[in-house]
Amino acid sequence: MVFKVGLLGLGTVGTGTAKILLDAAQRHPLLETLEIHRVGVRSLDKPRAVDLPEDCLTTDLEAIVTDPDIDIVIEVIGGLEPARSLLLEAIEDGKHVVTANKAVISRYGNEIAAAAKKAGVYVLYEAAVGGGIPIIQPLQQALGVNRIETVTGIINGTTNYILTRMQAEGGDFGPILTDAQALGYAEADPTADVDGLDAADKIAILASIAFGGKIRREDVFTEGIRNVSASDVDYAKTLGFVIKLLAIAKRNPLNADKTDTIQLRVHPTLVPLNHPLANVNDVNNAVLVEGDPIGQVMLYGPGAGEGPTASAIVSDVMAIAATLHMESPAEEKLPNPLLSNAYSDYK
Ligand code: NDP
Ligand code: HSE
Repeated sequence: MVFKVGLLGLGTVGTGTAKILLDAAQRHPLLETLEIHRVGVRSLDKPRAVDLPEDCLTTDLEAIVTDPDIDIVIEVIGGLEPARSLLLEAIEDGKHVVTANKAVISRYGNEIAAAAKKAGVYVLYEAAVGGGIPIIQPLQQALGVNRIETVTGIINGTTNYILTRMQAEGGDFGPILTDAQALGYAEADPTADVDGLDAADKIAILASIAFGGKIRREDVFTEGIRNVSASDVDYAKTLGFVIKLLAIAKRNPLNADKTDTIQLRVHPTLVPLNHPLANVNDVNNAVLVEGDPIGQVMLYGPGAGEGPTASAIVSDVMAIAATLHMESPAEEKLPNPLLSNAYSDYK
């Protein structure tokens, strides 16, 4: 049984995703059941870093999300529109969807989840927060039983890369941002990184999972690193701190009427050198979760870039493929991929 994939976007993340899907035999037998059918881009003239199947590039993204042959759509074009409309159209057309788009999920996650429920399809978005770090699925599942008190994260790779280099080398952020863009870490509009908007999208997503309520993206207090100067970084170092852009979702003490409220904020923070988040450097991200009964858990890893983000995307696609295989007619069914460790079982 083969599932056909429509890939929307072939930039940093799309290219990494296509590379893994085309390298199936080297990785996991489940990947061999996935086939890139069409790839949507803005320009057909750009040189591409992957050898795609002939004639699969198109600028008609709408044709991809309505293509009856496609089973799974991966959205990695970014931005609010047309990404949101394309995702909804794909879902309404009965396609399963994987996206890295935190801007859309943080604002329209409830609308998208409702559409997916109605259409009976899966929507996964592990890559939207923390790049390659598994954080969405652990919060939903492995930590799901806990009463979460705080989620504190370094969840923007670009600003962490900038602050780390400012700390090590001195100087202001401008030239370092240019390097972060060249490395594929920054958003298409890097003000989203520098001004904390990307981290605010991500903490809104984490909070909606951790606290289980309706989180409004516009309620996240947001201050970026634009005003952090070389001398601020120096003074902090002298006093035994590092400056980190933290994203924090924290449960407040219960109100008198026993209702819960949470605080949501993103801002540069003085972090003592002995704090677990102080040594999260370069493009790495980390999310420290505190809950009952688990106590503290920290998830750490590469927070942006082609390979790590593609790892999260394709793992989501594989999870969908694994489920579809289990739901497939008995004669086509593979051994339960989620319960088996034997790779040969998938052949
Ligand atoms: P890029 O800007 O590198 O790539 C965007 C791709 O989408 C390009 O191929 C572009 O086409 C295509 N595209 C954009 N808009 C349109 C449109 N309107 N119609 C057709 N094609 C379009 O972005 P990234 O790969 O960096 O990011 C993609 C998504 O992944 C974003 O949501 C981002 O937030 C998220 N993400 C990115 C990470 C990273 O490290 N870069 C990490 C985690 C998430 P063309 O090539 O022709 O210009
Ligand atoms: N621009 C984002 C970052 C990409 O720097 O963290 C990963 O979401």
